[in-house]
Amino acid sequence: MKSILLPYLLCITAANGQSPCDEISFVDRAGWGAREPTAITNLTRKPLSFYVIHHTYQPPNCYDDASCIQRVKSIQDFHQLDRGWADIGYHFLVGENGKVYEGRGWNRQAAHSPGWNDDAYGICIIGDFTVAPPNEKALNTVQSWIKCGIARGHVKEDHYIITHRQSQRPGYTECPGDGAFNVVNKWSRFCSFQNSGANLTANQTQISLALNFCKKELEISSSTSTHLFMPIILFQLLFIYFL
Ligand SMILES: *[C@@H]1O[C@H](CO)[C@@H](O)[C@H](O)[C@H]1NC(C)=O
Ligand SMILES: *[C@@H]1O[C@H](CO)[C@@H](O)[C@H](O)[C@H]1NC(C)=O
Ligand SMILES: *[C@@H]1O[C@H](CO)[C@@H](O)[C@H](O)[C@H]1NC(C)=O
Repeated sequence: MKSILLPYLLCITAANGQSPCDEISFVDRAGWGAREPTAITNLTRKPLSFYVIHHTYQPPNCYDDASCIQRVKSIQDFHQLDRGWADIGYHFLVGENGKVYEGRGWNRQAAHSPGWNDDAYGICIIGDFTVAPPNEKALNTVQSWIKCGIARGHVKEDHYIITHRQSQRPGYTECPGDGAFNVVNKWSRFCSFQNSGANLTANQTQISLALNFCKKELEISSSTSTHLFMPIILFQLLFIYFL
């Protein structure tokens, strides 16, 4: 019996030992020379259920460390100095050099999409993805970072990924561009929720509407795979039990 169980235990240990966070080259605020925020509001509803994907459009794409840092600094300048926000609007930014830049981070409320800022992490890919998608480096980094947030307990296992355009009324923004949208919409936790633009009733929020919609949508798709795997798992348990 021990010899049968051992491979299972080894598999489980290997899966747990490798954190998606370890794959990431992370640049904290000090690393890119962030200015201090003028105010801080902490997130209070963690773990959160949503990631919202953005692109910068402007400033343009960056492929090396020096230009990516320059982009992140210019976005903070724009948000803080021109728009008068407390800090850079996004929780995190990702360059096509494959690095994650800390914006407001996991603990603070950001300003990436009105109505979503208390309940969703905003990840912005640096560049214009109106036509071309982000490169593989950036896409792999975003996906690992999404998993890292779950591994660290900031985001629910049952989370949903949407894009900036879906979070607001139709036509509000093209962000993150068709190039990025047409990749993100194939990710397994992508949810096709679209803010309809209709006025909300007193007991509705965009988050409550999206949660209801996404739960239904992803339950349907995940029930297919559960139906496939449950008999296999049950069979294995029975097999071990009878040995
Ligand atoms: C926000 O959280 C930090 C710790 O992450 C804490 O030091 C700070 O006091 C909190 N601020 C408020 C206003 O709750
Ligand atoms: C939504 O609310 C605004 C102001 O409260 C109103 O002017 C508008 O007609 C409403 N729109 C719909 C579709 O009900
Ligand atoms: C939301 O409020 C409306 C009235 O404003 C009520 O009819 C409806 O039952 C409420 N829905 C929920 C889920 O509480």
